[in-house]
Amino acid sequence: MSLKKIMESKEYLEKRFKKSPEIAMILGSGLGVLADEIKDKIIIKYEDIPNFPKSTVKGHKGQLVFGELMGKKVIAMQGRFHYYEGYDMKQVVFPVRVMNMLGAKKLLVTNAAGGVNKNFKPGDLMIIEDHINFAFNNPLIGKNHNDLGPRFPDMSHAYSADFIDIALETAKEIELQIKKGTYMFLTGPTYETPAEVKVASYLGADAVGMSTVPEVISAVHMKMKVLGISCITNMAAGILDKPLDHKEVIETSERIKDQFIMLTKNIIKKL
Ligand code: HPA
Repeated sequence: MSLKKIMESKEYLEKRFKKSPEIAMILGSGLGVLADEIKDKIIIKYEDIPNFPKSTVKGHKGQLVFGELMGKKVIAMQGRFHYYEGYDMKQVVFPVRVMNMLGAKKLLVTNAAGGVNKNFKPGDLMIIEDHINFAFNNPLIGKNHNDLGPRFPDMSHAYSADFIDIALETAKEIELQIKKGTYMFLTGPTYETPAEVKVASYLGADAVGMSTVPEVISAVHMKMKVLGISCITNMAAGILDKPLDHKEVIETSERIKDQFIMLTKNIIKKL
């Protein structure tokens, strides 16, 4: 994925938005509702943006929403590109690079995840403190673009400590019980086996999921400040004796959407 392609997409979007976004947002499964809260929206479908990956899923919502949220200029991805869909890592992170080039230096990334920590329950929101890349691939493999960032990026504070504090403080203010923990990324599309969930737990994961980590790596590469929030939509395999189903993922994110919107809107005000 060349820099030229990123710049072409950026130039196309710049003409449509006219203003520069401060905060980029990636909205996970069932969490796209946050984009509906954006005012003075300009919506652009992924398929209309030059060089954007082509969606593999028919009827899948895939669009960028630009506008104002809590007084901040934001750009939101309603729908993301997953590694398990067959995109390569560079395609998965392409939109993050474009949003950064448009001016967004902060990233709020959200996802649905399976709870590994037994103190969690479906419907909990978890501030991501750190991650484990268990997909054994990395979007930065290959030639490094020095214009984007360094060859060997530091991942000591991939998730901004300031943003974590803001998120925890905001949750307290709105009297929302919140969790924090480590997110482990696996490729999917299968849910994990109970044995894999045990491994995840032994290795220090509090939640497992199939997204987010590639985008965060790419954002950190570009020195963006990142905040990650997982919605624990279900307990991971083997924790409860219950088959996993995508329906439960959607139902849980639907159930907690008001809390999610309240939390994220109040956080955005302070980012
Ligand atoms: N595992 C992986 N990804 C997920 C899960 C899960 O249990 N729930 C939602 N996304």
